Amino acid sequence: MDSNEVNKLLGGFLGTCFIVFSIGLVSDGLFASPAPEKPGFAIEAQEPTEGGPAAPAAAEKPIADLLATANAEAGAAIFKKCQACHSGEKGGPNKVGPDLWDIVDRPVAEHEGFAYSAGMKDFSQGGQEHWTYENLNHFITAPKKFVKGTAMGFAGLPKEEDRANVIAYLRTLSDNPKPLPQPGASAEAKPAEGAKPAEGAAPAKPAEGAAPAKPAEGTAPAKPAAPAQ
Ligand code: HEC
Repeated sequence: MDSNEVNKLLGGFLGTCFIVFSIGLVSDGLFASPAPEKPGFAIEAQEPTEGGPAAPAAAEKPIADLLATANAEAGAAIFKKCQACHSGEKGGPNKVGPDLWDIVDRPVAEHEGFAYSAGMKDFSQGGQEHWTYENLNHFITAPKKFVKGTAMGFAGLPKEEDRANVIAYLRTLSDNPKPLPQPGASAEAKPAEGAKPAEGAAPAKPAEGAAPAKPAEGTAPAKPAAPAQ
């Protein structure tokens, strides 16, 4: 009898606990969930308005677009920073860095009489890589990041406007300034240029391939000569 009463009491107590907890959980769900939602949305809304993370992505504006509005005269003023180490005249001397006359589309690390770093030589791939507008833009943004191991001790120009202006100025350091890239079409123009040499090169390959095939036949008679030894 006693134990039955104890069981009933315990059962009643546990049942009450269960109900109280259940109500707690349900009410938490009902009343608490809207509260986190509001701050949650508020935080999410703040991030885009700050524009912090979005800004670096926007900085990737193509140099072709930037050059369309660039100002070479403003670039001349910025070039003064470069002149600590670079001359810009035709036949100018190599200083701490190589002379930058006609640098646009010049092969990388190929200026006469300058001892380039191993990092820059690697980047040049034996002179195959050129200082395209894009390469210049990326290099000047953060030299050491773009060309690993470069000896150019220059922090870089973080402002895209400054870079565009100085590149527009570099372009003028030439007897025949290279054409400006077409705004908005730079990405498409590149593969197209690459495709043309590839087509031109294709006919040459079968010709080369055919030539070795014939000498191969011709070498067969040479084999009997070996046993003669
Ligand atoms: C503190 C000196 C210094 C400053 C300032 C400097 N450079 Fe250089 N630059 C160098 C050196 C040194 C090299 C050779 C790098 C190597 O061999 O790795 C170089 C290489 C280069 C090259 C590659 C040249 C080639 O023939 O391949 C370019 C392009 C260039 N600099 C552009 C600039 C521009 C544009 C500025 C100004 C915004 C600038 N540099 C500022 C020292 C400097």
